[in-house]
Amino acid sequence: MSVIVITGGSRGIGAATAIECARRGLDVIVTYHTQPAAAAAVVDRIEAAGGRACALPLDVGHVAGFDDFRDAVAQTLERTWQTTMLAGLVNNAGHGLFNPIERVTESQFDDLLGVHLKGPFFLTQSLLPLLGHGASIVNLTSATTRVATAGVAPYAAFKGGLEVLTRYMAKEFGARGIRVNAVSPGPVRTGLGGGLDEAFAAQLASQTALGRVGEPDDVARVIAMLLSDDGAWINAQSVEVAGGYTI
Ligand SMILES: NC(=O)c1ccc[n+]([C@@H]2O[C@H](COP(=O)([O-])OP(=O)(O)OC[C@H]3O[C@@H](n4cnc5c(N)ncnc54)[C@H](OP(=O)(O)O)[C@@H]3O)[C@@H](O)[C@H]2O)c1
Repeated sequence: MSVIVITGGSRGIGAATAIECARRGLDVIVTYHTQPAAAAAVVDRIEAAGGRACALPLDVGHVAGFDDFRDAVAQTLERTWQTTMLAGLVNNAGHGLFNPIERVTESQFDDLLGVHLKGPFFLTQSLLPLLGHGASIVNLTSATTRVATAGVAPYAAFKGGLEVLTRYMAKEFGARGIRVNAVSPGPVRTGLGGGLDEAFAAQLASQTALGRVGEPDDVARVIAMLLSDDGAWINAQSVEVAGGYTI
């Protein structure tokens, strides 16, 4: 039995990843921020299919809460799975903001920094004692680190920081047998940043070689592969999952 934590597992890519990982035999702790009912629905769906899952609250922008979260994960592992160790962590939780540089406020900047770079850094640090030998960490970055998209500058800059951090984590955690990779989605049909309306989705699809925007499952399958033994020799990489977006 292997248990993983997926932050932001209540909706979108995180929820699809939880369901895909469970389908492949992993047990899952999903976290939610504002939508406990959505997280409970993901747990129900996994359990209805014969898997095991739990949901815990987490604000990735609140570093002071991470010790309590680690304790809650440890208690959940003991109570539900009679184990002390995690097999993986997906730093997925996040939100978007469309605002040109000239209008971004300091608090918007700090909020995005907290959720997309500082949060994954300190959450990973906090959960490190629970990550066993051979564990796999996947950090969700974004194709906006490669393709400049007007209106998402701080978001993209912090995702770029997370991509660099991925390589440093791989370097420092390798001695413990822990692999760390980044998955960099192109446009995906989720609720991020208010969601994609049809006109915007069509424009993004026209910029994509395969002619459509991504679905959460497209990304979930790649994350699940990186968490599995099929990805055992993939380390310190950033994998763009975008159907050929702006090439
Ligand atoms: N969709 C895209 O086009 C796209 C492209 C590139 C990269 N990404 C990245 O992929 C990841 C998942 O995005 P998504 O599209 O699946 O988004 P989504 O559908 O909006 O889901 C976001 C998830 O993150 C959680 N979350 C948001 N703010 C949080 C916070 N402060 N603390 C803890 N959890 C928080 C939400 O929890 P609640 O629902 O419980 O509040 C939800 O589970 C993000 O890191 C995003 O930047 C997405």
